[in-house]
Amino acid sequence: MKSEPLILGIETSCDETAVGIVRGRTLLANVISSSVEEHARFGGVVPEVASRAHLEAMQPAIAQALKDSGIALTDIDGVAVTAGPGLIGALLVGVSAASALALALNKPLFGVNHLASHVAVDVLTHTKPLQPTIALLVSGGHSSLLKVADITGDITALGQTMDDAAGEAFDKIARVLGLGFPGGPLIDKDAKAGDRKAISFPRGLMQAPEMLTHPFDFSFSGLKTAVARYIAATPSAKRADISASFQEAVVDVLTMKAIRACKETGIESLVVAGGVAANSRLRELAGERCAANGIELRTPPPALCTDNGAMVAALGSLAMSSGRKPSEIGLAAESAVPVSRAIWA
Ligand code: KG4
Ligand code: ZN
Repeated sequence: MKSEPLILGIETSCDETAVGIVRGRTLLANVISSSVEEHARFGGVVPEVASRAHLEAMQPAIAQALKDSGIALTDIDGVAVTAGPGLIGALLVGVSAASALALALNKPLFGVNHLASHVAVDVLTHTKPLQPTIALLVSGGHSSLLKVADITGDITALGQTMDDAAGEAFDKIARVLGLGFPGGPLIDKDAKAGDRKAISFPRGLMQAPEMLTHPFDFSFSGLKTAVARYIAATPSAKRADISASFQEAVVDVLTMKAIRACKETGIESLVVAGGVAANSRLRELAGERCAANGIELRTPPPALCTDNGAMVAALGSLAMSSGRKPSEIGLAAESAVPVSRAIWA
């Protein structure tokens, strides 16, 4: 067991080829090569294009991360890699590269869960113990509320989205508004010039009966339909008002349910993580509501909220220093995995 292991982490679950290096809880390098521009004209990530881009970017990204951190490959104590969930062809590129590295260096390999690593990245910027905590995990593919007793192996899903993920809703509404892809950052920016109270869009699963049966679940499909109908029926509406009002409907529900999860479990700590956690209004409202309820809020800086390699290295580092058994070389990548499976044993 090593308390401050030097870990190289590789992330290729979607369109970012990312390599991070951490020593214990200290970030040393975070290199991200994105193929997002190649996907933009299709309005979404094209799996085959992403896999090919990973193949081309992998070696240069590893070389750059080593250069940035000033360490030699042979200094590394372990390799961590996203083994799922994600696009299977894209994951395979990362898992193959990480397996080859671990084998050549004769060092342990940790296959890690992409969702758990989004939460684990918090340890790189906050010194307080991460757990126990409630985590609101909001990304392009997932939206869930988690109870985290141990980020390397004891995570319970309290609720999740019944339809679209929060990021997916941002991306789809941005497309309807003609803003481009990925939509989250574009709506965030557009909303700054709008009035978030201009239009009252529906809040999914917030009515009294639904709150009883789905207290911690989310639904964004009704909201999406309501926004699309509003746009069609109101051609004179100001786009920034629609962006701001839509964004408000999403972050209102996310923060209300997250606070409720903290209160019901008696856990006074909330981590907001995943790509959508970069949203400025979500960060602001979570801050206000946590302060009003005596809950400590932790949100990684925006650059560590969207996909990156540092989060993978961070979870690998926690796994290694807590004595977790490494994964097999050549472990299987899996496109769909529950968040409860944090490390591939
Ligand atoms: O975690 P992530 O980088 O990739 C996945 O694991 O899915 O999340 C990407 C998602 C996209 O849907 C993107 O639109 C959204 O995060 N996103 C945002 C913002 N930045 C990224 N959503 C709202 N506001 C933002 N500032
Ligand atoms: Zn992600």
